Amino acid sequence: MITPVSGFSKLSKEEKIAWLSNTYLKNSPQSEAVLRQYWHPDSGLQQLHEEFTENTLSNFYLPFGIAPNFEINGKLFAIPMAIEESSVIAAASKAAKFWKTRGGFKATVINTTKIGQVHFIFKGNDSLLQEFFAEIKPQLLEGVSGITRNMEKRGGGVLDIELRNRTHLMEGYYQLHCKFETKDSMGANFINSCLEKFAEIFKDSASHNEKFSDSGTEPEVIMSILSNFVPECIVRAEVSCPVKDLEDEKNRDATLFANKFLTALKIAEIEPYRAVTHNKGIMNGIDAVVLATGNDFRAVEAGIHAYASKDGRYTSLTHASVEDGIFKFWMEIPLAVGTVGGLTNLHPLVKVALEILQKPSARELMEIIAVAGLAQNFAAIKSLVTTGIQQGHMKMHLMNILNQYNATPEEKKELIHYFKKHTVTHSSVEDQLEKIRR
Ligand code: MEV
Repeated sequence: MITPVSGFSKLSKEEKIAWLSNTYLKNSPQSEAVLRQYWHPDSGLQQLHEEFTENTLSNFYLPFGIAPNFEINGKLFAIPMAIEESSVIAAASKAAKFWKTRGGFKATVINTTKIGQVHFIFKGNDSLLQEFFAEIKPQLLEGVSGITRNMEKRGGGVLDIELRNRTHLMEGYYQLHCKFETKDSMGANFINSCLEKFAEIFKDSASHNEKFSDSGTEPEVIMSILSNFVPECIVRAEVSCPVKDLEDEKNRDATLFANKFLTALKIAEIEPYRAVTHNKGIMNGIDAVVLATGNDFRAVEAGIHAYASKDGRYTSLTHASVEDGIFKFWMEIPLAVGTVGGLTNLHPLVKVALEILQKPSARELMEIIAVAGLAQNFAAIKSLVTTGIQQGHMKMHLMNILNQYNATPEEKKELIHYFKKHTVTHSSVEDQLEKIRR
């Protein structure tokens, strides 16, 4: 029987591994060796990674690649992507190449406001609260001046604080709904620090205010936290070209392709089962760049999926049209990302990723990420409505299957050549490998 461990975080890394091995790994030297195998030989770099988080035993590698030839607003980019799924980077690169000869991608940041809220309960008279808020609003703004000074120097800060009555949702539920501009930083720590200060001032002032002591009801702060729903931090990415230019190297009928593409988009707009997978494909591109550039992919995922259901039904993030012979394909998504602060200044690979992107501002990074998502979706839909997804996918997956069977470099070479002309399936690779080995 396993007994709970106490003080685990205080053990050294070796002690932690020993405990783990003893408790869960049946003292397997192989598993311990794998954990150690992923330690970086440069002890400084290893320590840096260990200190990103807690109870670190090893490092978890993801491939870091680039998708070149992305023309965005007339500039050429190679987009760094950290992703384990085969065919994502290949698909992005293909879409980049396709649109490079058809006007490239256009992207625009529409707005950059971020949101945070102090949630509280007040069961007294609404007008008392409204009066109190009007009185203390200047104090709230003044009270965070120590936190906002540097941000203001960079052109950011607190944009506004609103008192929101949410009592129709829950008895006594109110919010201080606060808006922020955080310029090149993602701003999570900045926003949360401001919110906690607002909450402190709000609570203190309320406890000394006679309006509340006379009526015997005081606001009770529940929590203060930023929102990852950022519908006022929106970026738009788009491509367009005459329908006839959609013809590709395989000489497919361009009008038929455009019609099938539009129908596929319509299905994703109306059918949630399809919309989720459709948007998942978009996130393949978005998450890979978000991760490579050291941003918080969980925040981005949560915000984008909430946005996909903002009208009460989960729907496609991308849209397409054909008007006057012009095919248009676009997406507007919320993206709260940063290019300073957090991991961006710490993780050596993240620094390189940002260098590859020519040290973008947060706004430029929003544009690049949105384009990666749109490109990924274009590539997926193009495959789905023409050859089907498996042809390309399994070709890319071939290497994973070969590695699973510990294929030697010679075997890999031979089978990659063989599968240029044959359909890749798990069993066909297994059969061919067996044939060679016999
Ligand atoms: C696979 O990771 C993503 C796709 O399923 C996306 C889509 O269906 O649009 C291919």
